[in-house]
Amino acid sequence: MNKGYQVLILDDLSNSSLEVLEGIRKITSNEPLFVQLDLKEQDKVKQLFEEHYDIDSVLHFAASKAVGESVKKPIDYYQNNITGLLNLIQSLSHPINFVFSSSCTVYGQVSELPITESTPTQRPESPYGNTKKICEEIIEDAVLAESNLKAICLRYFNPIGAHPSGMIGENPKDVPQNLVPFVTQSAIGKLPPLTVYGNDYPTPDGTCIRDYIHVMDLAEAHCAALEYCEQQASGSDMSVVNLGTGKGYSVLEVITSFERVSGRDLNYTIGPRREGDIIAAFASIEKAQKVLNWTPKYNLDDALASAWIWEQKNNSETN
Ligand code: WQD
Repeated sequence: MNKGYQVLILDDLSNSSLEVLEGIRKITSNEPLFVQLDLKEQDKVKQLFEEHYDIDSVLHFAASKAVGESVKKPIDYYQNNITGLLNLIQSLSHPINFVFSSSCTVYGQVSELPITESTPTQRPESPYGNTKKICEEIIEDAVLAESNLKAICLRYFNPIGAHPSGMIGENPKDVPQNLVPFVTQSAIGKLPPLTVYGNDYPTPDGTCIRDYIHVMDLAEAHCAALEYCEQQASGSDMSVVNLGTGKGYSVLEVITSFERVSGRDLNYTIGPRREGDIIAAFASIEKAQKVLNWTPKYNLDDALASAWIWEQKNNSETN
């Protein structure tokens, strides 16, 4: 919105809250349109795109995204994530730029680092990851058959952080399974001490390594992806681009960084390994730099500082 786009948000509010609209209003001094809609309801999705016939771009983030839950409820995940995408694509009847939230999980267990877009994809470790892989394939086929569709799939590594104002951020309805929201909620006293999942990995400090990217950098990359689609000729192939920082940090380095920026000591214990965790993953971001003309601006400290600001603000307002 701050770049001048007029935005319509579709959300079923299954894992979000209308309070986010207030944060958006404060940050942008502007009002996004909002429609509560479940993408599984095909007729309603179709009707909405008929009513808003002037929509020229779609950023498709809407999906279930908890890896562990997807193992327990695979069919719900396939139904929600894949039906949602199919209904969306079927409702688009005029030229559209389509940006899809994909995931580094499509690479599965990798042995060579950094991960480039030509690193072969493998069967992902979870149904969630598999929905992302299948959705990429659906989009690829749709782009080949439909000259009206210009698409790019952005393979996120580990997005963390919040808007630096603390006005919008991550607030999962259930106990977070991801590292950073667990760290901030534990530090503020909402959750028990963190368990570090294993310190006997073949890494310098024994804990797993990931590529943590600030959501603000991710947001910038989406604007760049839209511009990229706008400049593409119709009938171009679908592009896939990694979004990370290109740097890997261990779990213990994340804890140290959090302690530095928050000024708090974090209580944690070392536990057993978590099933399905990969040892180390970080992106090559050469393609994003070249194709999107984008480079991340924030480092791990910045991202964790923003997550901490958000946690404190969010907590003081809800309690
Ligand atoms: C990070 C590290 C854990 C929690 C996620 C998504 C995945 C993809 C990438 C988008 C790991 C360790 C965690 C805890 C811990 N994103 N950890 N204690 O597993 O890399 O994957 O981001 O699609 O779909 O799930 O992220 O934040 O869960 O874990 O020690 O309580 O922190 O073992 O090394 P992950 P994560």
